[in-house]
Amino acid sequence: MAFLFNSDARRGAIFAEAFAKELPDLPFAMDTATVDPDAVRYLITWTVPENLSRYRNLEILFSIGAGVDRFRFDVVPAKVKVVRMVEEGIVRMMQEYVALSVLALHRNLPAYLAQQRAGAWRDIPQLQAGSRRIGVLGLGQLGQAVLDRLKSFGFPLAGWSRSPRQIESVTCHHSELGLEHMLAASDILVCLLPLTEETRGFLNADLFAKLPEGAALVHTGRGPQLDHEALVAALDSGHLSAAMIDVTDPEPLPPGHSFWSHPKIILTPHVASVAQPATAARAVLENIRRHRAGLDPIGLVDRSRGY
Ligand code: NDP
Ligand code: OXD
Repeated sequence: MAFLFNSDARRGAIFAEAFAKELPDLPFAMDTATVDPDAVRYLITWTVPENLSRYRNLEILFSIGAGVDRFRFDVVPAKVKVVRMVEEGIVRMMQEYVALSVLALHRNLPAYLAQQRAGAWRDIPQLQAGSRRIGVLGLGQLGQAVLDRLKSFGFPLAGWSRSPRQIESVTCHHSELGLEHMLAASDILVCLLPLTEETRGFLNADLFAKLPEGAALVHTGRGPQLDHEALVAALDSGHLSAAMIDVTDPEPLPPGHSFWSHPKIILTPHVASVAQPATAARAVLENIRRHRAGLDPIGLVDRSRGY
């Protein structure tokens, strides 16, 4: 029986140390050449390797990230459990990034940066937090955590998910109608949806038109959810005021793409959050213990939903 780590060596070394300490009976491998494929019961990776079928006894395929959209489920045998990353480091970083973005948009930072470049010293009327409504698309591990972190600022908070949810101090919506209600009342919209067939192209001209005049966007889901041209059109027409964009399609963005220099866009290169190796290793170890005890791992992916 063995655990195969298929990612960068720096994080692998931290995983290896945690595994040696916590599960010394489970051999840990980082080099496919040194491991008997039949021994591999657990594999952690960012993308499904081409040769997955050689691991005939695989039981769990762990994603090193929270999103599993890079996994092609059709090449993963049905008996293999697919598990996404649920761990405190990735949550904390996303809370930081979304708090940073919401505050930047709330305090008109993109407009002040443009003014700085133009040498203009001019104040912009400032809304108070109690009047700036925040809507979060996706109420999973990350959506709930960012809402929790935003509570202390006093923004009115809302969220939307597939199934009905109840979260203290958050107006929760679901269904198409719920989405319409939330969009109409979101001055800053945050996207934390997983990429699935249903959410591909979700942030498009129709959706932007349903947001209030002057609304802003924080996009930290996945690049293919955003229609780039529709965003630029909504910003250029003034219907949307600004956007913080962390994920694009493709990544990296090609030279000359309008997002690089758009005055109303602040762009970051898919860095909002990343699994932290020490805490991620603990989460994976806990899931192996659960699996061995006959329990479902935390973060088990429902293949029919795609997340
Ligand atoms: P979860 O699986 O925990 O949560 C997903 C949420 O989205 C759930 O609330 C789910 O609803 C909702 N949802 C999914 N599909 C739909 C739909 N069609 N309609 C309405 N709601 C839907 O995911 P996480 O919170 O862990 O992560 C979310 C995403 O964040 C990841 O998939 C990834 O794409 C992105 N991410 C980005 C990072 C970055 O650095 N930019 C880093 C980490 C993650 P329900 O609750 O009903 O199931
Ligand atoms: C993730 C990511 O899904 O880093 O974890 O985007």
